[in-house]
Amino acid sequence: MSTTPTQAPVAAVIVLAAGGGTRMKSKNSKLLHPVAGRAMLSYALDAAQTLNPAKLVVVVGHLREQVEALLDESYPQVTIVEQPVRNGTGGAVQCAIGALGEINREVVVTYGDVPMLTGETLGELVAAHRAGGNACTVLTAVVPDPTGYGRIVREGGQVAKIVEHRDANEAERQIREINSGIYVFDGKVLREGLASLKPNNDQAELYLTDVLGYARGHQGNVGAYLTDDIWQTEGVNDRVQLARMNAEVNRRIVERWMLDGVTVVDPKTTWIEADVDLETDVTILPNTQLLGATSVATGAVIGPDTTLRDVEVGENAHVIRTHGELSVINSDAEVGPFARLRPGTVLGAHGKIGTFVETKNAQIGDGSKLPHLTYCGDAFIGEGVNVGAGTIFANYDGSHKSPTHLGNDVFIGSNSVLVAPLDIGDGAFVAAGSAVVDDVPPGALAVARGREHISADWVHRKRAGSSASDAANDSEGEIHPAVAEARAKLREENQEDDQ
Ligand code: UD1
Ligand code: MG
Repeated sequence: MSTTPTQAPVAAVIVLAAGGGTRMKSKNSKLLHPVAGRAMLSYALDAAQTLNPAKLVVVVGHLREQVEALLDESYPQVTIVEQPVRNGTGGAVQCAIGALGEINREVVVTYGDVPMLTGETLGELVAAHRAGGNACTVLTAVVPDPTGYGRIVREGGQVAKIVEHRDANEAERQIREINSGIYVFDGKVLREGLASLKPNNDQAELYLTDVLGYARGHQGNVGAYLTDDIWQTEGVNDRVQLARMNAEVNRRIVERWMLDGVTVVDPKTTWIEADVDLETDVTILPNTQLLGATSVATGAVIGPDTTLRDVEVGENAHVIRTHGELSVINSDAEVGPFARLRPGTVLGAHGKIGTFVETKNAQIGDGSKLPHLTYCGDAFIGEGVNVGAGTIFANYDGSHKSPTHLGNDVFIGSNSVLVAPLDIGDGAFVAAGSAVVDDVPPGALAVARGREHISADWVHRKRAGSSASDAANDSEGEIHPAVAEARAKLREENQEDDQ
């Protein structure tokens, strides 16, 4: 059975989220623990919303301030109801029903800690409920180990009752069809059934499951909608289950991207969170995590060993062994290996942030390159700039952060320190090893270092008899041919320039 878009909305969805979550052993609400990068509770709310309920009610209790903060920020349309005493699932729904007023259609009850349940399955449950003309329909699954779950006791195909594991007899414990805790109720039957609840059970709680018995006793049909995707009924109670759930959600996300045209070389070591967006012909290499609102355009290659959170990657860019956050990497750019992009990094098209380079709040123009061993913070860099190996943008003087501007086609020699605030004009050059504190005008060469001083025969005087002294003695004093050749070539070029 499938949902049709014309399916009439339900009167309400009630999401139960008041439980203690004690087995998580966490100071944070279980419902805020992330699954694929999103709070567990948000899955329940998104699924609920696909039913277009007239009212969406969340029952809060344990750590309610934390849960309410999420609701206020991301789901302002929900009605929040407090369950002051945790007296069971029936008690929780009793609290919610008070917020509903007149109910003339179905009410769906679901849990905040069942993140894989989809809106589609909820829609199918509602459709089954309507098709069966039921007073109540429960979502069930047949699981290998039903320990702890309420069991579905059937009589002649119909659901006779639900019995909790702790209240079940031996025969009932053999039943492997379990209650997911997700139901559709006729609104009137629910209201009456709730009013009839008594804490007649092992936990002295008000069991929502007893409403099913009430419905049966009042000539109502109680149906079951059996799903074969047992993950959709799986709750999260501890961190072992949380990890298992995350692995399964991730497996499905990665598989979906592969079917949508993304190459994932090693699905097992690839983590892609729920809000990531990928285009076709992206390639993801092993040990890669794409997190938050990261997006990757077609032809880009990410990984291996790369973590990107909230990073936008352009077409055909390559990002290798990199840790990046809140950054933009434009098309055909190259990043890594071993690069760290901190928030506010924008790398232009065809640009490069290379090996052992850290950037922060840095706008780097098209075709500009920082290939090796650089810290670049609070920088505005034009186009076609080359920043030599070991350059440091000294943006912090111990109390203030200051910016550095490099114009178009600037060349910074290796191992320079650029002391901010600093402006280096278009086409200017900085000699290797400079500590630059004064602005450099366009087209100028800045040399800011001591001149080389040669103390001839120093080794013979100060290190007589050493291997260095022997080596110097044996030397014919020839300059290495590669160096000599390069120098001759430079000289020739300079002469040509002078003519
Ligand atoms: C419940 C069902 C059981 C089912 C199982 C599925 C009852 C009596 N039993 O058992 O048949 O197989 O769920 O997971 O309903 N909650 C509140 N307030 C409360 C108690 C619970 O809001 O006072 C919420 C919890 O936050 C949770 C949900 O209800 O989201 C289920 O509570 P839990 O204590 O886990 O119920 P189970 O005993 O597991
Ligand atoms: Mg439970």
